[in-house]
Amino acid sequence: MHKAAVAKTKPSSKRLLQVLSGDALSPPPMWLMRQAGRYLAEYRAVREKAGGFLDLCYTPQLAAEVTLQPIRRFGFDAAILFSDILVVPDALGQHVAFREGEGPSLEPITSERELSRLDAVMMGEKFSKVFETVARVREGLPHETALIGFCGAPWTVATYMVAGEGSSDQAAARMWAYRDRTGFSKLIDIVVETSITYLDGQVRAGADALQIFDSWAGSLPEPEFDAWVVAPTKRIVTELKARHPGVPIIGFPRGAGENAKRYVETTHVDGIGCDTTEPLSAMRALGKSGIAVQGNLDPLLLVAGGEAMERRVKDILATMRGLPFIFNLGHGIVPQTPPENVARLVALVRREAG
Ligand code: CP3
Repeated sequence: MHKAAVAKTKPSSKRLLQVLSGDALSPPPMWLMRQAGRYLAEYRAVREKAGGFLDLCYTPQLAAEVTLQPIRRFGFDAAILFSDILVVPDALGQHVAFREGEGPSLEPITSERELSRLDAVMMGEKFSKVFETVARVREGLPHETALIGFCGAPWTVATYMVAGEGSSDQAAARMWAYRDRTGFSKLIDIVVETSITYLDGQVRAGADALQIFDSWAGSLPEPEFDAWVVAPTKRIVTELKARHPGVPIIGFPRGAGENAKRYVETTHVDGIGCDTTEPLSAMRALGKSGIAVQGNLDPLLLVAGGEAMERRVKDILATMRGLPFIFNLGHGIVPQTPPENVARLVALVRREAG
């Protein structure tokens, strides 16, 4: 009700925002997670110029350029700010390095005592680079293209801060949370507050919508899912909505499964990103409950292309027809994706639904 009222007073030319306010559009707006990245030659060229990956994130001119590359090439309905969820720990003084081909590396924080290593001395300077990127992208975007800002959800960001790297089971963070709930909740509080500052700055600089990436939401049992995924996300959503009531928020609790419904109802996100494993019947049920649904083509079907991809795209579109739906992948584009398959996907989504 409330969302619709906001949308009616401020009609938008941006199709992504129309769907996030509850409209069903055909063809659905589309963008792809990790749409800027190594599968594009023009990204690799800029990346080489920038030096390290985080140097690219902190160089507004180059970060804006790679944000715009997939828009120019494919005409997506939304651009997503080029940055990373690990900018938040990096800005808090937990230095993040990206080793070639190995993913991120941080000095782990594994106890309440070690939280004293975090400080916000450099935060303003680092965040200001990201906000400048947002402002530059805003200027370079067609007016009908939405600009999505983002952050990692506190749980997912904490899994990297505690393990010091990516891990398949998030064991380090889970163990800390089980053994010392109070200490771990202090880490979560720090990430919540910092993420609010980070998202608020992105909106002030020109982001139209926000996405909260909870890539590791699927590793928690129900009570911990509520404590470390739902509750911190709700705090971020509540605060951002108080400050910027017209800016919709998409939650992406990857792997949430049956927990997704409670996540939606409790956090009051405007859109729910569904991962590759979410059954289409469950996506349809979410859409019927009134929330905008985003997803969920398998990124590997985008690599495979051909008939297998076409068949699945048609099924997704047919299932979500008539509901507020945003076409996306169920997780990020992988580097070996042929760009011509992305072009075919865009044409297919726009033709099939038309
Ligand atoms: O195009 C976009 O989607 C915007 C930019 C973006 C990046 N990372 C760029 C990136 C976004 C939204 C992210 C989110 C992100 N980062 C997540 C959540 C989404 C997900 O994929 O689950 C996570 C968990 C991270 C942390 C991260 N960043 C890891 C684990 C890695 C290494 C793995 C890899 O793919 O190399 C990164 C690096 C990274 N972030 C790259 C890009 C384009 C590749 C680095 C490079 O170019 O060298």
